[in-house]
Amino acid sequence: MRIDVISLFPEFVGQCAAFGVVGRARERGLLALHGWNPRDHAEGNYRRVDDRPFGGGPGMVMLIDPLRGALRAARAADPAPARTIYLSPQGAPLTQAKVRELAGRERLILLCGRYEGVDERLLRAEVDEELSIGDYVLSGGELAAAVVIDAVARLQEGALNDAESAAQDSFEDGLLDCPHYTRPVEHELGRVPEVLLSGDHARIARWRRMQALGRTWQRRPELLDEAALSEADRRLLDE
Ligand code: ADE
Repeated sequence: MRIDVISLFPEFVGQCAAFGVVGRARERGLLALHGWNPRDHAEGNYRRVDDRPFGGGPGMVMLIDPLRGALRAARAADPAPARTIYLSPQGAPLTQAKVRELAGRERLILLCGRYEGVDERLLRAEVDEELSIGDYVLSGGELAAAVVIDAVARLQEGALNDAESAAQDSFEDGLLDCPHYTRPVEHELGRVPEVLLSGDHARIARWRRMQALGRTWQRRPELLDEAALSEADRRLLDE
């Protein structure tokens, strides 16, 4: 998969994606990341990328042309069609289902805004979709782009060493994850639940499912409305 990032700080996004699973996915050739700086496509001595908003008010708005120049350069660098995504708090919420959909695409272009935002005409003409990583305001789209890159990179075939672990992630079945334990069995902070030491795989699976259902019910009950629940799950929740 190829991801192009349009940003005033493309190196920052590259650094966010240089470690751990994402770094390894890049080393393994599963993900190619390319940065494009709108300032390289800006005119004049000052290479302006922003200006004051029409109608007044605080902050600055990113100019159409430097962004469009960077977008065009990114698109021209590879013939594969790209889905262009603008990161902003006004976007649709990023979910694991959306991540899965994006992870299956050959190419993404992530557009990061700074300042108060981006000229609306550029967004209407060039952007396929607008995504938010949560109901809070970051000072730019770069961290949000790094979040998207991380989430899609780990779903690339061969990115994770244990093929099971993505399938068992939180949200893959619409529920929060169950708790995890490792050695030692006995510690001053507590003992590992007995069932996990039993070797009874069916009992362990049932316990994990109950924990996932219970935590989701306690912490994020609204997720249960959308989760794929079996009859057995519903009986557990009714108890
Ligand atoms: N840019 C600024 N805040 C953001 C957010 N919450 N999600 C995505 N992009 C952003």
